[in-house]
Amino acid sequence: MRIGVLTGGGDCPGLNAVIRAIVRKGVEHRGHEFVGYRDGWRGPLEGDSRPLGVPEVRGILPRGGTILGASRTNPFKEDGGAQRIAQRLEDDRVDGLIAIGGEDTLGAAARLYDEHGVPVVGVPKTIDNDLGATDYTFGFDTAVNIAMEAIDRLHTTADSHHRVLIVEVMGRHAGWIAFHAGLAGGANVILILELPFDLERVCQFVGRRFEHQFAPILVVAEGAQPLGGMSETRNEKLDQFGHVALGGIAHWLEGEIEKRTGKEARATVLGHVQRGGTPTAFDRVLATRFGLHAIDAADAGDWGKMTALRGTDIQLVELSEATAELKTVPESLYSEAEVFFG
Ligand code: F6P
Repeated sequence: MRIGVLTGGGDCPGLNAVIRAIVRKGVEHRGHEFVGYRDGWRGPLEGDSRPLGVPEVRGILPRGGTILGASRTNPFKEDGGAQRIAQRLEDDRVDGLIAIGGEDTLGAAARLYDEHGVPVVGVPKTIDNDLGATDYTFGFDTAVNIAMEAIDRLHTTADSHHRVLIVEVMGRHAGWIAFHAGLAGGANVILILELPFDLERVCQFVGRRFEHQFAPILVVAEGAQPLGGMSETRNEKLDQFGHVALGGIAHWLEGEIEKRTGKEARATVLGHVQRGGTPTAFDRVLATRFGLHAIDAADAGDWGKMTALRGTDIQLVELSEATAELKTVPESLYSEAEVFFG
């Protein structure tokens, strides 16, 4: 078989581990050939590919990013996009595609399969961990560890200067990174987008923490909002999938907290640091297992399916399930962390 591979959407640690597992098992154990499409859906749309064999995947297991490149290109926003992709696969003598991506990439993969019969297997990835169809996505554990280490460091400088330190973390539709990193790093307040927060209550937590001679650390998800919303408008720039670029909540909180408590506050926006660098062992193992099962699925002609972690098993689920349900932080889980607030 000749199989195309692409990585779409925002990059995340572990993508190279998936690519390596697919190629190593596919070439060495199944005798397949691979075509590496560059930059997500842009590759098959524009016929931009590169060789992908065992020599190309040597040494990439610990490397962050993706050797194939990534983009947020939406094939359904391009003129005749789906037909161009189908034609390209035919021209390249590709029997099927393995698409590694988040809700946008996999949503496009599901439509390409359902509406245009493009043979595709999906592998879920996102640091946000917000895909309902899988218990965990790789990249999440790495992002949480990076944020936790940052929080550990911020505790000491916050205490030295008696300041409020506010850490803004990623999470477009869900507060998983904020919740896990906050809990692991001993944050004094965690703010997530699932539950709009009461600014007065946040300021009370800040005051209470200072009463105990310690400085507070607030972890805030980039999409979090105060009750009633913020007065300032957010960035209105949209990507091809219609998402706005989030961010700015930590700086807004910095000003509001200083004004209301009289305490000095500083914002740290972790941004893309959370998506870069080497994956943790957990993410390397999960990504590798997803890759191994994706090649089995392609081998068996299980097109229109996606690998998913259910408990400790990797299972195949319908690709359409990838985007069917957004997994957000439940209120009951969030309330467990409230014991440590203030
Ligand atoms: O979806 C993953 C994610 O990292 C989000 O947490 C974040 O909002 C977004 O991507 C950032 O996207 P970009 O790299 O395009 O700015």
